[in-house]
Amino acid sequence: MSTGKKYNPKRITTHVLQEMKNKGEKISMLTAYDYSMAKIVDAAGIDIILVGDSASNVMAGHETTLPITLDQMIYHASSVVRAINRSLVVVDLPFGAYQGNSKEALTSSIRIMKESGAHAVKMEGGSEILESVERILSAGIPVMGHLGLTPQSIYKFGTYVVRAKEEEEANMLIKDAKALEKSGCFAIVLEKIPAKLAELVAKSVSIPIIGIGAGGKVDGQVLVIHDMLGITQEFSPRFLRRYNDLYDSIKGSVLNYINDVKSGDFPNEKEQY
Ligand code: KIV
Repeated sequence: MSTGKKYNPKRITTHVLQEMKNKGEKISMLTAYDYSMAKIVDAAGIDIILVGDSASNVMAGHETTLPITLDQMIYHASSVVRAINRSLVVVDLPFGAYQGNSKEALTSSIRIMKESGAHAVKMEGGSEILESVERILSAGIPVMGHLGLTPQSIYKFGTYVVRAKEEEEANMLIKDAKALEKSGCFAIVLEKIPAKLAELVAKSVSIPIIGIGAGGKVDGQVLVIHDMLGITQEFSPRFLRRYNDLYDSIKGSVLNYINDVKSGDFPNEKEQY
């Protein structure tokens, strides 16, 4: 459905995102991992494309985000960058490419920027990654933070349930968000935390807060594109709104194709040379 809005060709930068927060304009963000999907998402006018390490799940079929490698993230990111005209492209630093070593964090980030042409990196964690954030920023690379449910730590959490429901963890999250802002992050993703806490964080920091399962009182929203298009079927948390049923639609089309091939209906006379 057309909104009647004219496509805005203005390129999105971290400064544009900050202006959006200042004006109270919501920020839209979706994942994409390949050229064809990124082309559609960019043309629709999304503000940020996240080349998420969720590629490990939805593209590669792994149970967690841990197995995806830096080389694989760069492959996905460079495919996305070739497709875009307007969106800001943010790439997840994968598990093992930054934890506990700020020099390696910088080297991994430089590889992402140089080899893919992306515009920023995203990292999971709070106080424990501050040294890395500062080192990456000193090279002129914008960093997005990620707090709350951080899937790279799933084996520490042991479960994908809502984070920071207890006061102690909530206070720590607010402290981490302020520290990430102070260290220079241009935005923070908050994943699966109580809406009231997310609202408080969004009011406590001046940089944009992008939520996923964090309620509507933040500065923007992000979803995994395979989930919101209904390609993945098994994943249906409360926060997910499905905008399509592509699993059924694609399967139906494939069934029709198989039937047409088997029956000899495809190709017909007009579909041959
Ligand atoms: O990898 C990813 O897709 C993410 C989003 C869930 C924010 O980090």
